[in-house]
This record gives sequence, structure tokens and C-alpha cells, in this order.
Amino acid sequence: MLDSSQLDTVSGVSTLAHAELLSGSQVSVSIKRRQSILFVTSEIADYIKAGGLGEVAAALPRALRHHYDVRILIPGYRQVLSQIKDLEEIARLPASFGIPACGLGRGTTQDGLTVYVLLCPELYDRDGSPYVDSFGADWSDNDIRFARLGLAAADIACGNGDTLWRADLLHLNDWPSGLASAYLAWRGQRIPTILTIHNLAYQGNFDRNRLPCLGIPEAAFQINGVEFYGKLSFLKAGIYYSSHITTVSSTYANEITRPEFGCGLHGLLRTRAEEGRLDGIINGIDASWDPSTDPYLVSRFSAENFRGKRANANTVRKSFGLDLSSGPLFAVVSRLVHQKGVDLAISATETIVSQGGQIAVIGQGEARFEAELRNLSSRHPGSVGVKIGYDEGDARRMYAGSDFLLMPSRFEPCGLSQMYAQRFGSLPIAHKTGGLADTIEDGVTGFLFGEPSLNRFKDAIRRGLETFRSRSRLTTMRRAAMNRPHGWDRSASRYQEVYERACQAALA
Ligand code: ADP
Ligand code: GLC
Repeated sequence: MLDSSQLDTVSGVSTLAHAELLSGSQVSVSIKRRQSILFVTSEIADYIKAGGLGEVAAALPRALRHHYDVRILIPGYRQVLSQIKDLEEIARLPASFGIPACGLGRGTTQDGLTVYVLLCPELYDRDGSPYVDSFGADWSDNDIRFARLGLAAADIACGNGDTLWRADLLHLNDWPSGLASAYLAWRGQRIPTILTIHNLAYQGNFDRNRLPCLGIPEAAFQINGVEFYGKLSFLKAGIYYSSHITTVSSTYANEITRPEFGCGLHGLLRTRAEEGRLDGIINGIDASWDPSTDPYLVSRFSAENFRGKRANANTVRKSFGLDLSSGPLFAVVSRLVHQKGVDLAISATETIVSQGGQIAVIGQGEARFEAELRNLSSRHPGSVGVKIGYDEGDARRMYAGSDFLLMPSRFEPCGLSQMYAQRFGSLPIAHKTGGLADTIEDGVTGFLFGEPSLNRFKDAIRRGLETFRSRSRLTTMRRAAMNRPHGWDRSASRYQEVYERACQAALA
């Protein structure tokens, strides 16, 4: 029996369900059931977030929920368990090979999205992030932790988790959920699976001697399977077995088919692209990124009137120990890792400071970058302010108060920070790669440089500084950046198209 929530006559993507109304005269009508999507993720900003994936996992299902019955599956980290108020255990998922049994919880987010949670304290009830301990080292049992996630996804999709629900399609994200499509394939299940690659550099590679304990058939340990340069790779498994691959910008979708960006997987990705099974879909940003309403800002503003930026700039200066100044303020809001070109930002300091500019940095990551940044700030007191850590409020005020955001990433699958910066009237200065190339219009909403070298980066910074000196040009660019559309609607429709194609291919 279908309930009214499953009826959706608007969506063009539903499967047909047949209903016969047999009262008096016989009437046979076709009604549409909303398709069910299981969105599998290792982080979601509602409860726990390590990077952009958490934000996308919170926003994309919400952008799609009007068209689909989208439900989330996530491991039961302690931050998840403590924040979902109505969580109830609805099933037990059995142990399998070396993967322990676990409970399956079901609860809802504050705005009513259904969340399935893996209840397995021995794997997930720990301090630290989803992936690493408090010293930054990978959890030594990450293979079991995320095989548990993949196997549960396959079970729930087939109706072996929630007896009242099964998935028409599985949407996987990054290596932690990569094995789900492989488990389905090994069971001969043809449920369509989409894998979104948020970052190809994180692959989940493990020793081959882990195969038996993860329930991976020896026969799958080959180039046409889970093997990747002698290792077992969760990401490779996801790419190999999923029906369709997406990544988070068109430029990155193209880049990863080439050796320079393909992290060893470019051959397979090129094949998928040639088969029409690889798409780039840019991320959006959610409605909370609005400088006219953001509660974290000390003064709110809009594209029509951005005088309020100054109060935010002064607050940032104060809290980062910078002198009061009317010169340009540059911000860095970033994980401190090689990918983000932190070394380039550090090396460009002299160019900025010598022209009267200031830099505020917030980030955490590799110890060497943290140490270099601390050192930089003590060499430039009043001009370079550094906070090692993570703080949403600081980040938002930095986007709001800064004139420029430095983002010299060596590669950037999509990047959200440059979109937030533009929305808040801070012009990104960024390497022309991946999502940065797709979301910044050079000389219009920010500044792009063509290769990740210090000289090219400095040239772009100089262009920024010149613009700062011309008030009218700065105003025009700021306005263009703030008015640039960044919402989720267009991207959500692209995902709908991909879902449809994957479902049709599964029926063929
Ligand atoms: P990635 O996921 O590769 O780190 P993205 O640009 O997609 O890069 O997303 C990064 C997100 O994390 C942005 O929302 C950014 O504002 C936020 N962020 C990064 N570092 C910090 C920090 N130290 N404090 C607060 N927010 C941060
Ligand atoms: C990854 C990428 C980043 C992207 C984010 C969300 O963390 O590094 O570029 O924006 O995922 O898709």
C-alpha cells in the first residue's frame, strides 16, 4: 500500500507503480512512487564535518528531497549519537567475515530527513575525526570501519535493514563508501549506484592480506576489480563497480582523466568518461551563506550596500592581533595540507605585507605548516595573524571582512571557500584548476593564475592590489562576485539527470 508521501505527480523521475481502485466501476490508474535514494556518507555537517564533503552531504540531499525519498546512512560516531534525539534501533545487521555485527538505528534530522545510523561502538565511539585520531594518524581499523559502512549500505539498499524501505538507487561518496557497489555486484544485485568523488587523492588503500576479513573475493583482486598497484583500494572498487561516477566540477572531471591529476586512476576514469559514465557537477552553497542574515557577522551587508564589511574586518583584525588599518586584508581559511598550496601562501607574504596588506589565517593540518605559520606571524607582528584551529564563526567573519581570499590550491575538485568568499564580497585569488576554474571569473569575480608557481601567484596578488587601489573597480568586482549565482538548484537537476540515466541503464 502506498502512502500519500510516496505519491508525487510533479517529479518526472519516478518509477511507475500500478494501482487499481476497485470501487464500483473498475478504474485502473498509474500513480508514481517517489524513488528512494540512500545517500551514504562518512560525514554530514549537521553532526560532524571534516571538510567540504560534510557540507555537501548536508545540502545535496536537502536539495533533492522534493523529488525523492532521500535518506542518509552514516556511522554512529559519538557526535552523531549525541545529537539525534529520536534515534531508535530498528534492526541488527549480522557479522560477516571480519566485519562485526551492528545495530541499525533510524532517526531524523531537525528538519525531518531520515537518517540511518550504524550502531557499533567498538568501531565508531571514539574521540577524534571520522578518519584520524587526535594525533592526526589514520585509525588503524579504517578498513573494517568503512567496510562496515559499505556492507550496511548494500544491505539496506536490498531491504535487509529497514524492512519497510529499500533503495532504488545508492549515492556513494568518496572512498569510505566505495565498497558498497562492489558488495552489491558480488551478490548479483543490479541496484544502480552513483559514486561521487570529492577528492581523488584520498583512496582508502590497504594491504591485500585484508581481503578475507573484509569479505572480498580473491578473484576480485585484479586490475578489473579492487586491485590498485598491489593494494586493495576502496576508491578503485567504487569507481570500478559503480554504475556511474560523478565528481564535483567539470574541469576536475576532465583533469582526473590525465596522469597529472589522476592519482594513478586516470586510465580507468578515462574509460568511464569514454563510456559516458563520468560527469562533473559543481557543488552549490546553502542559503545560510547570506551576508544580510548571517548571525555570526558583527555587521550585516548586501551587494547593494557593503559598508558593513568594514566592521567585520576590524573584528577580524582585532581577534587575529592585527593592527587597525585601512589597507587590504587577505584571508586564508583552509586545511593546512600540500593540496591547498599553503607553502605558496606563506611564500607570498612578503609581497602582500610590503604593499601595506595584512593576512589573517585560520587552519589546521600538517604540523610543518602550522609551525611555519606561527613563525610567520611572529616575524610580522600586526601584519600576519594566525589561528591554528577550526572555528566556523571566525571563518564566516573572515569571508565577510576580508578583501581577498588566497586559494593557491595545487588541485581543487570543487572548493567551497572561494564560493563563500565571493558571496561575502571577498575576491578569491586562486589557481585556475578544478572547481576554482569553474566558479571564479578571472578579472570579474576574482583573479586566476594559470600554473601553481610562486611567480604566477604573486602576479595575481599584484592584480588584486591594483584593483584595491581603484575604488570603483573594486566595487564593481565585489558586486559581481556577490551576485554570482551559487545555489544548489542547477546542480540538483544535474544529479537528477544522472540518477535517471543510471536507473535506465540498470533496466536495459
Ligand atoms: P576541503 O573540503 O578540501 O577542505 P572546501 O573548500 O570544499 O575544501 O571546504 C572547506 C570548508 O571548510 C569550507 O566551508 C571552509 O570554510 C571550512 N574551513 C576550512 N578550514 C577551516 C577552519 N580552520 N575553520 C573554519 N572553517 C574552515
Ligand atoms: C573535497 C575537495 C573540495 C570539495 C569538497 C566537497 O574536500 O577537496 O574541493 O569542495 O570535497 O565536494
